[in-house]
Amino acid sequence: EQSPTVHKGLVGVYADTTAVSTIDEPTNTLIYRGYPAAQLAERYSIEHIAYLLWYGDLPTAAEFDAFTSRIRAAYRLDPAVADWLATTRPDTHPMDLLRTAVSILGATDSSTPQLDRDTTLAQATRLLAQMPAVVAAIQRHRHAQPPIPADPGLGIAENFFHMCFDDIPSEPMVRAFETSLILYAEHGFNASTFTARVVTSTLADLYSAITAAIGALKGPLHGGANEAVMYMLQQIDSPEAAADWVRRALERKERIMGFGHRVYKHGDSRVPAMEKALKTVVAERGATDLLARYHAVQDAVYQAKQLLPNLDFPAGPAYYLMGFDIPIFTPIFAMARVTGWVAHVLEQRADNALIRPLAVYTGPTSRPLP
Ligand code: CMC
Repeated sequence: EQSPTVHKGLVGVYADTTAVSTIDEPTNTLIYRGYPAAQLAERYSIEHIAYLLWYGDLPTAAEFDAFTSRIRAAYRLDPAVADWLATTRPDTHPMDLLRTAVSILGATDSSTPQLDRDTTLAQATRLLAQMPAVVAAIQRHRHAQPPIPADPGLGIAENFFHMCFDDIPSEPMVRAFETSLILYAEHGFNASTFTARVVTSTLADLYSAITAAIGALKGPLHGGANEAVMYMLQQIDSPEAAADWVRRALERKERIMGFGHRVYKHGDSRVPAMEKALKTVVAERGATDLLARYHAVQDAVYQAKQLLPNLDFPAGPAYYLMGFDIPIFTPIFAMARVTGWVAHVLEQRADNALIRPLAVYTGPTSRPLP
């Protein structure tokens, strides 16, 4: 009997259909519900993108006002989370803190078991508002500073700077940050989104799906790469040192963080827009030395392995120059990607089939008990 084909890593497997996003192959363009993500990132806010991903269309002015009012009404850091966060060690990894915070939000929300679309959207709106408040509180907790209350007059991106630093940078800096959030928002059946869909397929609640997705995002092959990129750029102290550093890492069979991609084989479609945002931030901060190391690493990796950068490569140094602690880079990714996760949870529920694949058994054949 022929043994079945194993699709290790589910490479090339179509696990379902989706109307949320796609990559247009000929133009190498990431498309959110019909719109190029990089174009959306130039003009819109993460709130617009959440609305687009969840409801299917960009909001009218009235819909946008109503949506942002609902988000802003949920801005205040949940007291249960704030009290718990204060008891944690400041050096706990922020992804562990964020994952637990979302779990607490689920455990304290009486609507958690309800799976209907309206309740789920209300929970999603709460998460979209709470996650930045949690991440900002973590940034401050790391420096023994108390949380700064959200300002209901500000959008998510500006408010995040306000809650982290009690200061809002220039408009181009905020736009660069907003660009990163929009580019991070959604990317098909990536590992964390697929995780959210697996959890949802058992008819578990939204908070369980998002908690699990945060766990999947933490790893360095996925969201954790943006932090790893910055640690790498810190280790390489000059552009001249890049080629040697890369060669030695490859000799040790290490992955170069921020390079390569499962889906893109001709470069990550999100990189040009994020690189432009990085250059804005570099100009504002006068950090041309970091940009020189960034380009040197990119050249060295291409020469050594013909690998191209992914979104995490420009995002890492951009977040660093914006002033965020390196360990909150992946939590920032999470507070953007929650928009995509929610869209996929809704889509999975609307036409659910339990996700439950098979494995080819390679263990011992049946043995008598000793
Ligand atoms: N550094 C060194 N070699 C690499 C890298 C890399 N970053 N990426 C791929 N390769 C090599 C790999 O060693 C293999 O070579 P060989 O055939 O000689 O063994 C070949 O390229 C194919 O790699 P693969 O592991 O079969 O490809 P994959 O589709 O499983 O890998 C990936 C995708 C993202 C896991 C991988 O590119 C990687 O580990 N990158 C570094 C981590 C990273 O930047 N992750 C972020 C992904 S994108 C945004 C996000 O989700 O945050």
